[in-house]
Order: sequence, then C-alpha cells, then structure tokens
Amino acid sequence: MLTVALPKGRIAEETLDIFSEIFNREFKFEGRELIMEVGDFRFLNVRNQDVPIYVERGSADIGVVGLDVIKEKKLNIVKLLDMNLGKCKVSIGIKKEDKIDWSRPNIKVATKMVNITEHYFAQKAMGVEIIKLYGSIELAPLVGLADAIVDIVETGNTMRENGLKVAEDIMDSSAHLIANKNSYYAKKDEILSLYEKINRVVESRV
Ligand code: PRP
Repeated sequence: MLTVALPKGRIAEETLDIFSEIFNREFKFEGRELIMEVGDFRFLNVRNQDVPIYVERGSADIGVVGLDVIKEKKLNIVKLLDMNLGKCKVSIGIKKEDKIDWSRPNIKVATKMVNITEHYFAQKAMGVEIIKLYGSIELAPLVGLADAIVDIVETGNTMRENGLKVAEDIMDSSAHLIANKNSYYAKKDEILSLYEKINRVVESRV
C-alpha cells in the first residue's frame, strides 16, 4: 500500500486522471472526503503547502507538489519527477503604472513565499522588507501595504484584473512527484514501478 498526498484542486484532479489512465479504474474524492482508498493506494486530500509536511514526516510515502513549494520549504525529501502539470511562474508584481527602481536601498514586498523572495532580492543586492501574507496577495500594493508582491502567476488574470503587472519572473514552477526518504528505500520497488507508469503517461502528453 502506498499513501499519496495530493494538493486540493486542479493538480489533484489531474494527478488522479493519470492514475485512472494507468490503472483503468476511477480515482476520485467524493464530496469533502479527505482520505480515499482504491486498490493498493490511499490518497490524502491536503492543502498545497501541507503536502511536503505529510511526505517529509512519512505520513504519506509520496506526494505531488509545486516546485515553488519545494524551493520555499528546503525539504528533506526525494524529488522524483516533473509531472509537467500545474505550470505557473513565481513573479514580482507591481502596480501597472509603477517601475522597480533597482538602485533604491530597499523595497517592501508582500508574499506567501518568504524564502524565495529573500533569496531573489539578496541576489539583486537590494534590501527587502517582507510582509508575510496568506492569500489575496494582489491587494497589498493597491492599498499601500507593499511596493510589490511575489506570487504565483498562472493565467495572469488576477494581476490584470487588479491593475497589476509582472515586473520580473523569478522562476518557473510545475507539479513534481516527491517521495519520503525512508519510503523510497523501504518501498523502492512499488515507488519505482509507479514512477515509471506515471512517467510514461507524462511523456506521452508532452
Ligand atoms: C494563486 C496566486 C494568485 C493566482 C494567480 O492564488 O496566489 O492569486 O492564483 O493565478 P492567475 O494568474 O491565473 O490569476 P490561489 O487561487 O491559489 O489562492 P491562494 O491565494 O489561496 O493561494
């Protein structure tokens, strides 16, 4: 039995579609259920940011999570495969009439992604005051809480509809298959066999 942590929402659905394609049966969370057992698999329905915690601590053997979350959290896990879904960018956003003046000594940035933000501005040798938020990040520059944001951009609609624009892209992200280190050794055959099957589907879709 393998326990798989999936992030609520579209990535979970797309991952379960891949499982359905591989095993030729339905994998689907019903209503608000958080655990689903089908065949040799148990799926956990968790928040995106929480997937690596379940995997790192061994409550899930494997999981699917965005590269942005992996980079943000400095995790002790095995990264197995880029699943090529849930593609997005981590970008700096500012008001559409603004411009980042890189010669300024510092900037105020609102974000969920504190480490990625710190690292990026350190590379640019610009001081940064980070304001940690948990959602609706796009609001911050509109009401003067921050000069800029660092956030996920997928379609760009959220920024556009709120009068923001991308000033710079920091990284590309997509969903990755990860594994708990102990599980990776203890259940190596099971995990690698699944990895190969998922990889085949992912490659057939490129
Ligand atoms: C993410 C992100 C942006 C939005 C970007 O939020 O924080 O707000 O999606 O997508 P777009 O470029 O397609 O508009 P999400 O909906 O995941 O909610 P969250 O704020 O709870 O993380």
